[in-house]
Amino acid sequence: ERCVVAVDGPSGSGKSTVSRRLATSLGARYLDTGAMYRAITWAVLRSGVDLTDAQAVAKVAGEVDLCIGTDPAGYGVTADGVSVEAEIRGPEVTAAVSAVAAVPAVRALLVARQQEMITNAGRIVVEGRDIGSVVAPDADLKVYLTASAAARAARRSAEDASDVAATAADLARRDRLDSTRKADPLAQAPDAVELDTTELGIDEVVARLRELLAD
Ligand code: CDP
Repeated sequence: ERCVVAVDGPSGSGKSTVSRRLATSLGARYLDTGAMYRAITWAVLRSGVDLTDAQAVAKVAGEVDLCIGTDPAGYGVTADGVSVEAEIRGPEVTAAVSAVAAVPAVRALLVARQQEMITNAGRIVVEGRDIGSVVAPDADLKVYLTASAAARAARRSAEDASDVAATAADLARRDRLDSTRKADPLAQAPDAVELDTTELGIDEVVARLRELLAD
């Protein structure tokens, strides 16, 4: 039967690993909404339009043919038929994604796509920033993962072999950009269960979420 789990939280909170593992253990689909914002950002950078020109950014977003899979064991991301899986994790996209994600028309487009994918999947774990608040306010379980700034920077730099201090500065910059928008679309859903993962391992977090789902 239908089961939607919304996993929100900032970068380095463990969202992606936890969401994929939870989806696998539930036999559910998995959707990485951050990858969708990143793929649109890749297309915007490729087009060469000015990132501060919201209308031009929205136009590119509306024209790109974005495809993303929902298999937790590995999903492909393509933009206009080109695989962009590696490119969307690169520093250029990471530096520009918050600006692109702040364009309301981009959000409207992707939120509609995400809602359609959730309806089609039926059983799915969806990770992002606004899943419990905007994309799936009627989710069966909403969790908001947090961790200390130091733990988040350490996890992220272990993942991509980047410098911890530079990563900490980038996370602080994106946190600021992501949380100072007008009518903050990324605000935590009031009914989300907040889980601080600073001292928790992946398996402990997944086990906790399975308990919450069983309640
Ligand atoms: O985990 P990390 O923050 O590095 O990346 P992500 O989850 O791939 O999200 C990248 C960026 O996309 C975030 O910093 C947000 O600006 C944006 N985003 C968003 O606005 N809404 C979502 N549902 C997911 C991501």
